[in-house]
Amino acid sequence: MKVKGKHYRSLWWNDDAEVLEIIDQRWLPHEFREQPVSTMQDFADAISEMRVRGAPLIGATAAYGMALAMAEDPSTDNLNNAWTFLEKTRPTAINLRWALNRCREFLEPLPVDDRAVAALKLAHEIADEDVEINRNIGLNGLEIIRKIAANKPAGEPVRLLTHCNAGWLATVDWGTATSPMYHAHDADIDVHVWVDETRPRNQGALTAWELGSHGIPHTYITDNAGGHLMQHGLVDMVIVGTDRTTRSGDVCNKIGTYLKALAAHDNGVPFYVALPSPTIDWTVSDGVAEIPIEERDPRETSHIQGTSLDGSIGSVQVTPDGTSSGNPAFDVTPKHLVTGLITERGVCSASEEGLAAMFPEFT
Ligand code: MRU
Repeated sequence: MKVKGKHYRSLWWNDDAEVLEIIDQRWLPHEFREQPVSTMQDFADAISEMRVRGAPLIGATAAYGMALAMAEDPSTDNLNNAWTFLEKTRPTAINLRWALNRCREFLEPLPVDDRAVAALKLAHEIADEDVEINRNIGLNGLEIIRKIAANKPAGEPVRLLTHCNAGWLATVDWGTATSPMYHAHDADIDVHVWVDETRPRNQGALTAWELGSHGIPHTYITDNAGGHLMQHGLVDMVIVGTDRTTRSGDVCNKIGTYLKALAAHDNGVPFYVALPSPTIDWTVSDGVAEIPIEERDPRETSHIQGTSLDGSIGSVQVTPDGTSSGNPAFDVTPKHLVTGLITERGVCSASEEGLAAMFPEFT
């Protein structure tokens, strides 16, 4: 998508320097910083410190990490070491393991001397596929928005609500939850987006930055405002992303998503999840019992980052000294609260049958 009129992906390969470049998202929306990722430690830090974040982007980054590992030492031992080293960077988003497994399964049977070139080619493929998947999620979600728009009073926008950032920054391009928004806006459908701030890390500010860059009207709201807006008929549809969805349709996403789903259910507001197929974990069924929830540094809860009046970016403490903070980063929305899953192949129910019909090759 565009940043000040220039098209960007959230990561790209620099052919001259033969290195992966990323946008260091820790500084957004205050500063736009590009950064090369050139060592295995850099790759691990980029993922665990959330310089790159969002399930699909974590997966694509890991694939480039495997490519670097193969360029340094294409032995099978190193292939396995790189898998283990990168896999432990973040526990919840399944795209990480999906990408690492795909790389290892493809590279292991190859002659050692062919692995470096093949690994880089595969990383490019994974990145390009992600763009295509998200574009199709956008087209499928657009049809839902179009139907809602057809029943709106003249002059009233379709009012969407989203949580966290499942935008182009969280993928290679388009985003998942934002892709239908971009497609609707580009199709001249009037949309307005309520953007949850998404404490503690305020990924909503990334969503607001993205939507603003694309000219989509939006309002940044506190995490606690969604239920109130729904009670007053001010939300037509919720669209969120996911970090891992079970084969039965339970959806794990950024902490606070579950509360939005409960409020949507209570108020009869459709609650959709934009779901790329690499985010489905076919090995688990019960999301609450089986998905590991990342517990992040409590400092992310007790402190908040922003720009001060003098323009410098800094962090301030919001809790009293000595207060202990907790920071579970994700929660699980049970399938019965989900109206539908918007995948790259179409929209299905959040159920074992719905997902199996959409992706028969995995079942
Ligand atoms: O902790 P984050 O910022 O990586 O969490 C991101 C989310 O929860 C997104 O909603 C999810 O990864 C989907 S991104 C298309």
